[in-house]
Amino acid sequence: MFKPYDFSIGGWCLVSGGSDPFGGPTRNLPIEVGLEGCVEAGIKYVSFHDRDLWDDDASSKDIDQKVNETIELVKKYGLSVYNFTTNLFSNSCFRSGAFSSPFPQVRESAIVKACRSMDIANQMGCKNMIFWGGREGSDGAYEQDMGLGLKRYMEGIKACVDYAIEKGYDYKVTIETKVYEPRLLALFAGTGASASSAIRKFFPDPKYNGRVLINPEYPQHVAMLGLDPVVELGQLLEEGMLAPFIHFGGQIPARMDCDLPPGVGSSLVADFMICNTLHERNWDGIIEFDCRPIRTTTTAEGMKTFLKHSVMYWKMLEKKVEIYHSDPIIAKIKAELNQPQSDELNAVVSAVQKGSGVVKAVQALTKSFSSFEAVSNINTDAIEAHIYRLIQILTGTQEEGAFLFKGTRWA
Ligand code: NOJ
Ligand code: MG
Repeated sequence: MFKPYDFSIGGWCLVSGGSDPFGGPTRNLPIEVGLEGCVEAGIKYVSFHDRDLWDDDASSKDIDQKVNETIELVKKYGLSVYNFTTNLFSNSCFRSGAFSSPFPQVRESAIVKACRSMDIANQMGCKNMIFWGGREGSDGAYEQDMGLGLKRYMEGIKACVDYAIEKGYDYKVTIETKVYEPRLLALFAGTGASASSAIRKFFPDPKYNGRVLINPEYPQHVAMLGLDPVVELGQLLEEGMLAPFIHFGGQIPARMDCDLPPGVGSSLVADFMICNTLHERNWDGIIEFDCRPIRTTTTAEGMKTFLKHSVMYWKMLEKKVEIYHSDPIIAKIKAELNQPQSDELNAVVSAVQKGSGVVKAVQALTKSFSSFEAVSNINTDAIEAHIYRLIQILTGTQEEGAFLFKGTRWA
């Protein structure tokens, strides 16, 4: 029924050594193992940071050579490069921020490095250029007005976007938000939802429409704060601010960024709803894994199993989306949850859309209104029935659990 999504993965995930702040790497796998694993798992694309491929101070000759080698390497495995991103967080020069640093020399470095990456994204034929502002913020010292920091951040990104537009590059620019880490206070005080309003403020010209978008990382970057990815996703889709890809992985809520394998630590129900919402809204995009095997996985086989698991997990969600949409009990529950509106309510909505006649429409609605007591007597049990049935679908227990719905109006 739905067209399944294609997959991509961050090249940095394929070579991640499993270090954490308390211990060094536990594996040392060449990228070839990961690329081979992608082919076996059915992942078609891979993405890179500039710094994954060359040192920040590399000469343009060396960079050119590495770009060509990377394109060739990826091609050898039948894959292609999907996204490019500039690393504005690892080099110690960015310890005070990048585009938003209080020091102008640092802001200059960020623009120089990012615009160099804009050229390379074009050279590599990438679909999107990601900006993740890992160091944009403060470590609690409040060294500058946070609003000014945000303004500087957006000015820096705008310089890059305008640079790309003037050069005729047609890829999209996406901003990846994260609530904190590595900076302890991130500049965007929230998630993709708050960033999208900043983008609209700083990119008002219609020439930017659809060009500057949000790429969320679900559930990691949202669940870190205990927030819910499905709620944010709804907002980004409704606002037309979702990039043509999402980052995906696993996360234990309210922890530092875990980047666990999909499903690990997260809510299966929320993951299902992410997948379901994207399909229901006919979103045209790609699932890019931005996660890695757990630190105890040390072998090539383990890396390949992780890649297969990641793909299988998403495909399982897609299969459940199909079951959900063909389930007769869900259909009845949904019908109750999506009842047609009265003519009076429709009139209010269209007056709001038109921008006039709202008073008249509300007066007519008030006249036809029964009573608060009558409304309080409507049956809203379908809400809980919905989640119970969804849990049955996700756990494949529709048959064993048939007694739950037997004799109800939904069976
Ligand atoms: C590392 C971040 O952890 C990840 O979420 C992000 O997608 C990439 N860098 C891109 O910059
Ligand atoms: Mg990410």
